[in-house]
Amino acid sequence: MAVRVGVVGVGMIGKEHLRRLQRLSGLCEVTAVSDADISAAQAMAVERPGVAVYPSGLDLIGARDVDAVLVTSKGSTHAEYVLAAIAARKPVFCEKPLATTQQDCQRIVDAEVACGRRLVQVGFMRRYDAAYQSLRKLVADGTIGRPLIFYSAHRNPSVPASYTSDMAIHDTAVHDIDVARWLLGDEVVGITVATPRRNSRGGTLRDPILIQMEMSEGAVANIEVSVNAAYGYDIRGEIVGETGVATLAESNPVVVKHNGNFCGHVPGDWRERFNPAFDREIEDWVRSVAGDSATGPSSWDGYAATVATGAALEAVTIRRRVSVTMAGRPNLYT
Ligand SMILES: NC(=O)c1ccc[n+]([C@@H]2O[C@H](COP(=O)([O-])OP(=O)(O)OC[C@H]3O[C@@H](n4cnc5c(N)ncnc54)[C@H](O)[C@@H]3O)[C@@H](O)[C@H]2O)c1
Repeated sequence: MAVRVGVVGVGMIGKEHLRRLQRLSGLCEVTAVSDADISAAQAMAVERPGVAVYPSGLDLIGARDVDAVLVTSKGSTHAEYVLAAIAARKPVFCEKPLATTQQDCQRIVDAEVACGRRLVQVGFMRRYDAAYQSLRKLVADGTIGRPLIFYSAHRNPSVPASYTSDMAIHDTAVHDIDVARWLLGDEVVGITVATPRRNSRGGTLRDPILIQMEMSEGAVANIEVSVNAAYGYDIRGEIVGETGVATLAESNPVVVKHNGNFCGHVPGDWRERFNPAFDREIEDWVRSVAGDSATGPSSWDGYAATVATGAALEAVTIRRRVSVTMAGRPNLYT
């Protein structure tokens, strides 16, 4: 039977995931939507006969015609909805961040552990990107030896006026932090943030930044975030191992050589770069719900990422290294 999904938050990414769910007809059907802006939810439902509008996310989570929940409301609202879904024993996909504080993430982990099974998947879609998956396999296979350093660069051509300096850490670098943990198979134990000369294109924005993370087994991850890079959306990643180096290739499929030069296309934004990964991520989640076996990024991954972004925000404020202390990892997540 198709999984009946309710979507909480139909803003920018909520609409995109809704379209993805609708392309998976047969596997799932969207039966309900909700948004703090009720007219946005109603507009979604008008276009989709059979989709009910609920006055609040909590009403939607409790509804009989909802088997699983997709949370794409703004970050500060995630914890309440994820906890309600766990209490209702309904699988929930939550866009990043899992929650905005370490305490709320801990509450979610505790609730899921008490429930005894994985119900939560967090939207770290890079883990579904084919290039990152190849990079991880190379590390896991031992092809380049023990990993020593991970270099990551996250460059946006520009950001809207509403973007704040702290968002570079909790909204943007959070993806690089997650892939560092995932690629290296290790946890963050210390963070330092360097702030180079500001890019004048960003006005007063603290941009770029360099986050250096010490991992518990001794590797170091170096993350550059530049959000006024002008030339395009560029995601770079390289792992230096004891016997070799593995680098994400340029994402364009064709390189043109002409007049003594070579060039290729740089993606314009994150959608162009990661759309296939988002598609795979949502399909994987739906299949895991249908098969009752959550395998994607977990509450623990959401917790670890929020702890690390919290430490990075502290490090940039006090201009010193910050130690990262995490709770023990429950067996549910091993
Ligand atoms: N994985 C990624 O790369 C990625 C990309 C974009 C956004 N996101 C994440 O997705 C989430 C949503 O981002 P967005 O860009 O779509 O934002 P958005 O502002 O476009 O949409 C958020 C929606 O949530 C609604 N909302 C606010 N408070 C609510 C509440 N209490 N209950 C229900 N709905 C509420 C708003 O009315 C709005 O429609 C954020 O957490 C963001 O970090 C992840």
